[in-house]
Amino acid sequence: MKPFCRDTWVEVDLDAIRANVETFRRHLPRQTGIMAVVKADGYGHGAVQAGREALAGGADSLAVAMLDEALVLRKAGIEAPLLVLGYTPLDSLAEAVRWDIQLTAYHPEWVQSAHAQLAERKPASKPLEIHLKVDTGMGRIGTQSIPELLAMADRLNTSAVLRWKGIFTHFACADEEDTTHVQSQHDCFQEMLQALTAAGYELPQVHCCNSAAAIRFPEWGYDTIRLGISLYGLYPSPYLKERQDVSLVPALQLKTRISHVKRAAKPFTVSYGATYTASPGEVVASLPIGYADGFSRSLSNRGFALHNGRRVAIIGRVCMDQTMLRIDEGNASVGDEVILYGRQGEEEISLDEVAALLGTINYEIPCMLNYRIPRVYRKNREIVDYAHALAGKR
Ligand SMILES: Cc1ncc(COP(=O)(O)O)c(C=O)c1O
Repeated sequence: MKPFCRDTWVEVDLDAIRANVETFRRHLPRQTGIMAVVKADGYGHGAVQAGREALAGGADSLAVAMLDEALVLRKAGIEAPLLVLGYTPLDSLAEAVRWDIQLTAYHPEWVQSAHAQLAERKPASKPLEIHLKVDTGMGRIGTQSIPELLAMADRLNTSAVLRWKGIFTHFACADEEDTTHVQSQHDCFQEMLQALTAAGYELPQVHCCNSAAAIRFPEWGYDTIRLGISLYGLYPSPYLKERQDVSLVPALQLKTRISHVKRAAKPFTVSYGATYTASPGEVVASLPIGYADGFSRSLSNRGFALHNGRRVAIIGRVCMDQTMLRIDEGNASVGDEVILYGRQGEEEISLDEVAALLGTINYEIPCMLNYRIPRVYRKNREIVDYAHALAGKR
C-alpha cells in the first residue's frame, strides 16, 4: 500500500541517476572517483535513495552539507565513506567518530581543539578523518593561508586521534563561459598543493571539481570529483546545457491530480486577490498543491502545467495548498494526472524553464519541494520505493 493519501507527489527515476553516474564514469579519467553530493535531501530527490543508487552506479563515496544529514544516511544503513562539506561544531565530534563520518576543517584552532578533545577520550577512539578545505576564490569557508594549511597538516599528521584524509577547494564560476576565475582558482589550488609537497607532506585524497568543472575539465579530477546537480540530470548552467559536453537524464518529475473542475457559466474570479477572471465557457481546474509545498507563489498567473499532453496556464494566485489551471482544449476530470515539472507526451516543463521564470537557478527548484510531498521511486518504470516525511517513511 502506498504510504500517503495525497494526490501530489514527486517521481524520481533511479535509472536516470544511475545513467548520469555512468556518464561521468566514462567522461572522467579512470583513476578519478565520484563522490555523490546528496545534501539537502539529495537536492530534493531523497538523499538515501539517490545516495544508494549513485553508489550502485559507480560512485564510491557521498557528501552532505552537515553532520545531521550524514547521520541520516548512516542510520539508513549506508556504509560508504561520508564527508560533511560544511562546518561542524566541536561539540558534535563524538557523533562523527561514533558513526565514522569524515569532517571538513579549515582553521588550525579547530583542528587543535578537535585533537585535544578526542585525545582526552578513554578508551581512545578510532581516528576522526579530516579533509582540509582551502579557499582559492570562493570567499566562504576555507583557509587562504599557506602557513595555516601547513600548521593543520602538521597537527593532523602527528595526531593519533585525527587522520588527514583529504584536501579540497570549491569553484565559484566553473559553469560560466569565461574561464578566467576558475583557472585562477585552480592555479591557486595547485600552489597550495605544491606548498604541502615542498614541505614534505604526502598528499591525501585531492578533490576540487563540482559538476561544472568535472564536465569541462575532467583532467582536474584528481582523486575524486564532487558530483551534485548533474547526478540528478541537470546542467549547472544554461551555458553548459547548450554545450552538451555530456548527455544527462533528468531524474525528477512533480505530479498531481485534478481535484475540482468548473466550467464558467458566467464570469468568476479565481483565487486570492481576484487577479484572474474566468470568462463564460472557460474550464478551471483546481490542483492540490501550493506554496506550502515549495511550489512557488511567483508562478501565479505565469507558470504552466501539462494536461493530456498539452501546456495549460496557471491562473490566479498560487495559494498555500491549491493552484488553479485554465484548460483550453479537451475534457478535464477530477483525478486527471497533471505534470508540473517533467514530461508528458511531446511536451516538457523542465526545471530550467521554471528556474528561468522564477529568476533563479535550477538547483533551487527541486530543493524547494519539501517534506509535505511524498517521493515515489521508479526503476525500469516500476515503483520500487516510497518516501514520505509526514508518514515517518524515509
Ligand atoms: C563544497 C561543494 N562541493 C560540491 C558541490 C556540488 O556542486 P554541484 O551541485 O554544482 O555539482 C557543492 C554544492 O553546492 C558544494 O558546496
